[in-house]
Amino acid sequence: MTKVIKNGTIVTADLTYEADVLIDGGQIIEIGKGLKGDEELDATGCYVMPGGIDPHVHLEMPFMGTYSSDDFESGTRAGLAGGTTMVVDFCLPNQGESLMDAAKRWDNKSTRANCDYSFHMAVTWWGEQVFNDMQTIVQEKGINTFKHFLAYKGALMVNDDELFASFNRLSELGAIAMVHAENGDVVAELTAKLLAEGNSGPEGHAYSRPSQVEGEATNRAIMIADMAGVPLYVVHTSCEEAHEAIRRAKMQGKRVWGEPLIQHLTLDESEYFNADWDHAARRVMSPPFRNKKHQDSLWAGLQSGTLSVVATDHCAFTTEQKRYGVGDFSKIPNGTGGLEDRLPMLWTHGVETGRLTPNEFVAVTSTNIAKILNCYPKKGAILVGADADIVVWDPKKEKTITAASQQSSIDYNVFEGKHVKGLPRFTLTRGHVAVHDGEIRTQEGHGKFVAREPNGTVNKALSTWKDLTAPRPVERTGIPATGV
Ligand code: URP
Ligand code: ZN
Ligand code: ZN
Ligand code: ZN
Repeated sequence: MTKVIKNGTIVTADLTYEADVLIDGGQIIEIGKGLKGDEELDATGCYVMPGGIDPHVHLEMPFMGTYSSDDFESGTRAGLAGGTTMVVDFCLPNQGESLMDAAKRWDNKSTRANCDYSFHMAVTWWGEQVFNDMQTIVQEKGINTFKHFLAYKGALMVNDDELFASFNRLSELGAIAMVHAENGDVVAELTAKLLAEGNSGPEGHAYSRPSQVEGEATNRAIMIADMAGVPLYVVHTSCEEAHEAIRRAKMQGKRVWGEPLIQHLTLDESEYFNADWDHAARRVMSPPFRNKKHQDSLWAGLQSGTLSVVATDHCAFTTEQKRYGVGDFSKIPNGTGGLEDRLPMLWTHGVETGRLTPNEFVAVTSTNIAKILNCYPKKGAILVGADADIVVWDPKKEKTITAASQQSSIDYNVFEGKHVKGLPRFTLTRGHVAVHDGEIRTQEGHGKFVAREPNGTVNKALSTWKDLTAPRPVERTGIPATGV
């Protein structure tokens, strides 16, 4: 049965034009005027855009003594409700666990997904086994992105020698390095000092992670990636110091991308000083929310192209889970939700304010990351042959965000009370209409794993350049006699 999206304006990362979109077998089969299909979806007054891709989510993540509360079912349902049609989660191997076993655990969790998904692999420990497993993960599992935590000392953190070894391996395999860039040693020292001085409330979390710890770690990761010859993706870039390091690296021709989160773009550090403990703790995430100077820097980065992708880092904990940290902020599970709200919040605060064009909106929510992850144009495109992951966006539709009507399974929303203008009329996941005029019609288990090849164009270009400029012995004509 074919479906046709009629009378809308197609908006992609580079074009805006009026045309209908015909869908069959989960793919776009024709784009043009006056198309007919078995089922019609009316897009009058709407923009027809590639569905959002959220490259940074943690669904049912084992973390800080608990599991994040949204799983692949509720998390992808929340995503679809807000126009996101693909998510990428992080496989986290335990200490000593093989990367394949970790990937299997994530395979088992993701069978209930309502939309397509992919995985990044985290490098949480180092040894010969990890070195060998990385090849299998890239070549057989279809994962070409590997995350490294420079924070969370004593848990997920890796040291610089491990980082350099892993980055070198990724360079050989044609994969991409990712970092959570905060200096974990300094955070641990500041945390201990704050607690000793009686700063035990959620505001201590923000004090323990100043922008310098992020700027330092971002710059360090960039330099180590450059020495290893691997492209680098910096997750949740939240401050000017980190953005500055990325901007400088880009101007020097280094292959680096930065990913601000919708939370950091629209919420600020004043949240941590709220007199209500629960209010503040619910917003504890790493890096913390920051002040306007940093927010303006992030918006400017999206406008200028020095920052490439807007994500959520969706990692939702209930109020009850957040209360593990009463009396000690370092025990508050780190993470916030955002999957349902990323697109409406970015449209409202980006496009409606004139900070972003609709085409730039598509670029930073979908197309740029599809290219970086090497799954474009299967994802992130409105093109014949692409998957029919589409959001029909109604720029006039409005609502006030509230936990009472959200899809996420937690009991609050960090954007509670925010008014948004711009919402999906329809969201299609590989042709299935998961949101129909505001009604949720998701299909549990509809989502499929998206395998991604290594050696994308940026990897190829970088390795060509690194080969050309690698150290090599000078061929000399005159060789002095040895001292005999
Ligand atoms: O606070 C956060 N960001 N929690 C999720 C794990 C991570 O660091 O990305
Ligand atoms: Zn992180
Ligand atoms: Zn994360
Ligand atoms: Zn269906």
